[in-house]
Amino acid sequence: MAQDAQSEAVEAQADAIGTAAEGAAAEGAAETEAEHEAAAEGGHGETPHYPLRKPEEMSWSFAGPFGHYDLGQLQRGLKVYKEVCASCHSMNLVAMRTLTDLGYSDAQVKAFAAEYTVQDGPDDSGEMFERPGIPSDHFPAPFPNPAAAAAANGGAHPPDFSLLAKARAVERGFPTFVFDIFTQYAEGGPDYIHALLTGYGEEAPADITIQPGTYYNPYFLSGPALAMPPPLSDDLIEYPDGAPQTVEQYSRDVTAFMMWAAEPHMVERKATGLIVMVFLIIFAAMLFLVKRRVWAGTPH
Ligand code: HEC
Repeated sequence: MAQDAQSEAVEAQADAIGTAAEGAAAEGAAETEAEHEAAAEGGHGETPHYPLRKPEEMSWSFAGPFGHYDLGQLQRGLKVYKEVCASCHSMNLVAMRTLTDLGYSDAQVKAFAAEYTVQDGPDDSGEMFERPGIPSDHFPAPFPNPAAAAAANGGAHPPDFSLLAKARAVERGFPTFVFDIFTQYAEGGPDYIHALLTGYGEEAPADITIQPGTYYNPYFLSGPALAMPPPLSDDLIEYPDGAPQTVEQYSRDVTAFMMWAAEPHMVERKATGLIVMVFLIIFAAMLFLVKRRVWAGTPH
C-alpha cells in the first residue's frame, strides 16, 4: 500500500514537471516567432552585412593598362596628408627621397625633409638625439607605437598609410568579380577610401546603435561607425594650383597619393606588362606560322 502511494506521488510530480516544460517550450516558440517577425521587418535580430553601402566607382588617372599618376594631384594629396592625416596616421615605409617621383627637385625634397625633426642615435655617449630630417629618412610617425596611437584615439589605432590603398577593398560579389577580370578593374582600394572620406555626415538609421566615440559612416568595412572623426571639411587646406577646395577633391587627391605610396612603381609595372602581352601575342602568331612551315611536307 505504502508503495502505491509513493508511486502515485512520483507520477503526480512527473506530470507537474511535464506541464512546466510544455509551458516553457510554448513560451520559447512565441519568442522566436516574434524575433522572426522583427527580422523580417529589418529590425533587431537580422545580421547586418558591412559595409552598409558599396563604394561608387570613380575614374582614376592610374586605372587601366595605360594608367599613369597625375603629378599635380599627387602633390595636392601630399599636402592633404601632411596637413591633416599625418597628425594621426603614420606612413612608415615611405622614404622622403621618393618624393622626387611627384615632380619635386632634390633641393625641394631636402627642404621638405628638413621641416621634420627625427630621432637618431645612439651617439658616442649612447644617447638618442634629435636632428632635422634628411631625404633618406622615412616619414616620421605621429605616435611612438600603435598602443600610444590607440590610447589617443579612443582605443582604435589609425592604420599605417604605406600600403593601405592596396590593403582595403570591398568585396565585389558574383558576377561582378568575373567581369572585373575583363574590364581590368583594380581600383577597389582607392574607391573604398574615397567613399569612406566622403561618406560622413548622415544620420544613422534609427535601428542602428552607434557606440559612443564613433562616427556613423555607411561605407566603413567593419561596422556601422568608426573611431575616426570626419577628417576633412571644405576649404580646410589651401591649394596653390586653383583646384577646388572641397571635401570631394581633397578625398580624391589624398586617395591618389595613398595609391602612389602603396605602389610607386605601378606605371612602370603596367608599361612592362603591356609590352610583354604584345610580345607574347606576336610570338604566338610566329610560332603558329613556323609550325605550319615545318610540318608542311609531312603527309598525315
Ligand atoms: C584624429 C585622428 C585622425 C585623423 C586626422 C585621420 N584619421 Fe583616419 N583613422 C583614424 C582612426 C582612429 C582610424 C581607425 C578607425 C577604426 O578602426 O575605428 C582611422 C582609420 C582610417 C582608415 C581605415 C578605415 C578602415 O577600413 O579600416 C582610412 C582609409 C583613413 N583613416 C584615412 C584617413 C585620411 C585619408 C585622413 C586625412 C584626410 C585621415 N584618415 C585622418 C584617425 C584619424
